[in-house]
Amino acid sequence: MQNDSQILKPQAAPLMLGLAGFGTVGSGLIRILEENREAIIRRVGRDIRIKTILVRDPGKTRACAMPEGARFCGSREELLNDPEIEVVVELMGGLDAAGALIRAALAAGKHVVTANKALLAEAGNELFTLAQDKGLFLGYEASVCGGVPVVQALRSALSANEFSSLTGILNGTCNYIISSMTINGTSFDCALKQAQELGFAEADPTLDIGGFDTAHKLILLVRLAWGVDYPYAELPVTGIRSISPDDIQFAREFNYTIKLLGRARRDANGRIEAGVFPAMVPTSYLLARVGSSYNAVRLEGNAVGSIFMHGKGAGDTPTGSAVAADIMEIARGDRPNNLGYNLRGLPPADIVPTEEAISSFYIRLRVKDRIGVMRDVATVLAEHRISIQQALQKGTDDIVSLIFMTHACKTKDVIGALAKLAAMDFMGAEPVYYRVLPPPCGD
Ligand SMILES: NC(=O)c1ccc[n+]([C@@H]2O[C@H](COP(=O)([O-])OP(=O)(O)OC[C@H]3O[C@@H](n4cnc5c(N)ncnc54)[C@H](OP(=O)(O)O)[C@@H]3O)[C@@H](O)[C@H]2O)c1
Repeated sequence: MQNDSQILKPQAAPLMLGLAGFGTVGSGLIRILEENREAIIRRVGRDIRIKTILVRDPGKTRACAMPEGARFCGSREELLNDPEIEVVVELMGGLDAAGALIRAALAAGKHVVTANKALLAEAGNELFTLAQDKGLFLGYEASVCGGVPVVQALRSALSANEFSSLTGILNGTCNYIISSMTINGTSFDCALKQAQELGFAEADPTLDIGGFDTAHKLILLVRLAWGVDYPYAELPVTGIRSISPDDIQFAREFNYTIKLLGRARRDANGRIEAGVFPAMVPTSYLLARVGSSYNAVRLEGNAVGSIFMHGKGAGDTPTGSAVAADIMEIARGDRPNNLGYNLRGLPPADIVPTEEAISSFYIRLRVKDRIGVMRDVATVLAEHRISIQQALQKGTDDIVSLIFMTHACKTKDVIGALAKLAAMDFMGAEPVYYRVLPPPCGD
């Protein structure tokens, strides 16, 4: 029997790329373009070739072979001045050199694909406006959650929705550390060391454990979900350094697990409340079950309902897969749709100040075990309009832990109450508090 479907001959000349960066992601991209060449041509109708590669040190040993026909170049100008190169793929990272390369590439009329969330979080509005004015692609699928196609989903497949909230586990290093502390009882330092040995964490892990990498990605997601520019410098960010084994254990006793979340929601007045913080997640939620270095995003749309995406947020080929998909969109000749909005630049977000944010909280106090302390603590909480949902005392020494789960209250009231308590003579350590993830974040 004759099969009517046939592979069409490539319809156009190969799409030529200039690649800046031959590290983890650059190598992943090269391998995907080589190993999946047939499948890619079948999908986009033309070949995709890397012509020139820019690195710092061309003499370095690489994780994979140089692509056929490609060569190292000595300067960024060589990439930019080559009329055959239609797309500049920026996989160097950092702000200054990468920013200069992307600006120059767009000015020279070349499409750009990048995985650089730090740069896009800080300078995205300017760069997207530049790309839009030139009618060029600025692809960045790999910038958020590596191989998980959340950018594409928000730009396109879910674009008919109004979103009320988005919640993500956006940093694999932090999730690996917290998961290891939770499941194996590992200390923070030991879990961090393991993450570094396994290649999940950088030698300098500040960007990850400080919550800043999650913050970069959250800024990009807020832009996509609500079409507003939330300045990176204004986003409240708390990292995971202070999470203690005690908090993990107490969370478990209340049926919660601690996760570092990037979370944003829009209130009825269109204001955006966003932040990065460790939070108590009910163990029954899918987010609580995201283990190891995996990433996940949960979106709440008014048409689609809740959507949950889960997968590898980093690594050579998972991230390279997202970079390749952006390049394939360009190869197909689609119209650029970088942000998913018919706007020139994005308006500033109307921001809910952190202190005004309303949540339930977990509060842990280390106090001297003496008569009247519980009464005094309850009085201070009540003075600050904080209603207690559950309370627990743990420990038998002179210093014990008092743990409270509160009803929903304002963050500023919790901060005020804890500042007052911190000054009291029965306190044995700085108070600790975490937000509790509210419904409807259930499954
Ligand atoms: N790694 C991941 O899993 C992952 C996941 C998502 C997003 N990203 C993002 O992807 C980007 C690349 O990350 P990576 O992990 O692949 O980095 P990497 O392994 O450190 O590789 C960086 C590459 O860029 C080159 N480079 C750096 N600065 C340069 C400069 N000024 N001029 C020329 N070449 C320069 C380096 O050259 P040499 O090799 O000669 O030193 C190297 O080849 C970053 O923006 C990162 O945030 C990474």
